[in-house]
Amino acid sequence: MKNLLRPREMTKQAKLGYEGYAIALEVVDIHKSYGKIKAVNGISFKVNPGEVYGLIGPNGAGKTTTLKIIVGLLKPDKGTVKIYGYDILREREKALKLVGYIPENPSVFQYLTIQEFLEFIGSVRGVNQSELQDKVNYYLELFNLHDKRNNLLGSLSRGMLQKVLAIAAFIVKPKLLVMDEPMAGMDPESQYVFKKEVLRMVKEEKVAAIISSHLLYLVEQICDRIGIIHKGKIILEGTINQIREHIKEKTLEEIYLKIIK
Ligand SMILES: Nc1ncnc2c1ncn2[C@@H]1O[C@H](COP(=O)(O)OP(=O)(O)OP(=O)(O)O)[C@@H](O)[C@H]1O
Ligand SMILES: [Mg+2]
Repeated sequence: MKNLLRPREMTKQAKLGYEGYAIALEVVDIHKSYGKIKAVNGISFKVNPGEVYGLIGPNGAGKTTTLKIIVGLLKPDKGTVKIYGYDILREREKALKLVGYIPENPSVFQYLTIQEFLEFIGSVRGVNQSELQDKVNYYLELFNLHDKRNNLLGSLSRGMLQKVLAIAAFIVKPKLLVMDEPMAGMDPESQYVFKKEVLRMVKEEKVAAIISSHLLYLVEQICDRIGIIHKGKIILEGTINQIREHIKEKTLEEIYLKIIK
């Protein structure tokens, strides 16, 4: 329970930096339209430290738009996002220092090698040099990429690139992991390693995580709570067990299909 205060202590000791806040991510009534398309239409939810929140929903439901608003890549038309108390629009730098982000459609530096890219990300984010090297080596081994460290990003397969992006999010020591379809293209072994590492960070280091995914079995395995998003709104939220009892279906796949229909 390192660095964590209980809720009662927290109200007494507001503004201590991220350790002082009970809520890692607070999204309040965000809206976003692209022209006439209402991509996000009044979404609110919270994620606590030590919790994985899963965002699931059909193509075009608004998951990526929501996650881009959370990490400050898109400005909402309305609503607020706070990361450990820091407003993503007004206190952007402080808020983003706490975030590790795995984007959905990566367009990364094609002409950097894996090693160069990870060193660049770590340096920009102020990770101590020797710690950075240790982390890069550790994760490249873990994800079976150690012999590819000098390969250009532009030459990697989809799954390999996805693993490099996951490593880039892990090495910056995030307090909030924001992951948009992070396992797309990963082979089963890599999915397993990825899942295990996210859960380690969440349970041991009390990192908060939000993940959007179409891989429902994985969502079911790692998420503490789930929000089902449809047409820009969260239409159902709760733990898998709460949702199961409410919908009266066994698997998340059955629940999902019933709700979306
Ligand atoms: N840059 C854009 N310009 C115009 N419309 C957009 C843009 N980005 C997203 N949209 C639209 O906004 C809606 C929500 O898209 P979003 O990418 O957030 O969905 P998603 O839930 O992430 O879908 P997927 O499961 O396919 O990744 C869709 O109707 C999409 O066509
Ligand atoms: Mg998406």
